[in-house]
Amino acid sequence: MSEDGCSPRKVIAMTTMTMAQSWWPKAAERWSESERRLLGLLDPSRLPAHVAVIMDGNGRWARQRGLISRIKGHEAGIESVREATRTCAELGLRVLTLYAFSKENWARPSAEVSALMNLLSRFLVAERDELMENNIRLRMIGAREDLPDSARRALDETMALTAGNDGMTLNLALSYGARDELARATRRIAEAVERGELRPEQITPDVIAQHLDTADLPDPDLLIRTSGELRVSNFLLWQIAYAEIHVTPVLWPDFRREQLLSALVDFQGRERRYGTVRDLNES
Ligand code: FPP
Repeated sequence: MSEDGCSPRKVIAMTTMTMAQSWWPKAAERWSESERRLLGLLDPSRLPAHVAVIMDGNGRWARQRGLISRIKGHEAGIESVREATRTCAELGLRVLTLYAFSKENWARPSAEVSALMNLLSRFLVAERDELMENNIRLRMIGAREDLPDSARRALDETMALTAGNDGMTLNLALSYGARDELARATRRIAEAVERGELRPEQITPDVIAQHLDTADLPDPDLLIRTSGELRVSNFLLWQIAYAEIHVTPVLWPDFRREQLLSALVDFQGRERRYGTVRDLNES
């Protein structure tokens, strides 16, 4: 027993806790025990810089609860968006990309499309204080011009308001399709060739990457897909070349901090080889 009454075992436990907590976000004090346990498993030096998420399963979530409208699932999904954004910013990740509306989603019933656009506009206005408080910059990828005026206005205003923030970037994929993005990039490259600014032999993977919507962002290290589907659904096809993929059966509205932390723990258990082999002298 030490002078202040702590047993050696308790002192060791407290020291370990303090060491584990030294990099922890302040907010972790309020997290649940299981969330803090997962946080304790993370190595802060190996966190992904960029996490991309295919948020799937809102409709099934609503159906499972006997709700007639799928829109209830999208509404519930907003809270998951909020929690994922806040948690990633608190952990110090550089970029979080959320697949909020695909090019293909325009083919959904018009009532659902309108509801999603309304939700988006409301979210973009309601989250402004939170984005500013957490030093988060908002940006988007996709065909901005496809969005209705109200959503475009809310988006532009929130992007302008947060443009000076230098913490995490929240990147919303809106009216986004990877093939569409690649076609737009190819068109711009062809125009540069036509103007004589670029020769065909100068078109390298870097040049293509510089013409994508994500030109100023690192490639995703981790791609998360909820609801158990094993597809990439036309999302960031070029950029996920070496991303680790984490698929969880959890539906998006149930994907909260604990599930996000589990995905990060899973990511840190992967060996990233980028097409090379492990050093034979290792282990
Ligand atoms: C897929 O679920 C989800 C979407 C098409 C939209 C995701 C949108 C949100 C989470 C809310 C709005 C987002 C922001 C950022 C404001 P699904 O409808 O395909 O579900 P299902 O496969 O179970 O039918």
